[in-house]
Amino acid sequence: MSLYRGVALITGAASGIGQATAVSFAREGCKQIAITDLDEAGLDETAKLIQDAAKDAAHQGDVLIHQERTNVAAEDEVSGLLDAVVEHFGRIDYAANCAGRDRTLNVVMKQG
Ligand SMILES: NC(=O)c1ccc[n+]([C@@H]2O[C@H](COP(=O)([O-])OP(=O)(O)OC[C@H]3O[C@@H](n4cnc5c(N)ncnc54)[C@H](O)[C@@H]3O)[C@@H](O)[C@H]2O)c1
Repeated sequence: MSLYRGVALITGAASGIGQATAVSFAREGCKQIAITDLDEAGLDETAKLIQDAAKDAAHQGDVLIHQERTNVAAEDEVSGLLDAVVEHFGRIDYAANCAGRDRTLNVVMKQG
């Protein structure tokens, strides 16, 4: 039985830590996953990786995915995202906020 029988929401899910987190939820048997990012092509890739992980894992069956572009720096977009996920799945049980940029790197690149 999965530890994650509820609904997971992951921001920054198009790459890096967010993508790995989203795939990990699927691998551990979570069947309702919402993913969001600015990068829509990356979200498509993550959605495929989620379904692949679910097939490979002991917990068989497709994962229901809610996927949408959101700028997490815009409060109205975040509110809209939360409303949309709750409308789609009825609830949110786990949230991983992985969206972000490396400010140190940006400063270094601007100075360089
Ligand atoms: N990778 C590390 O070792 C590490 C260590 C410490 C902290 N962090 C921090 O964790 C965060 C994620 O790191 P990562 O390595 O996964 O980076 P990443 O660049 O691979 O992923 C970040 C994701 O966030 C998305 N994103 C950026 N701004 C957004 C916005 N306003 N709205 C929605 N999505 C947005 C990007 O499109 C990208 O897909 C970053 O803030 C990073 O600085 C990373």
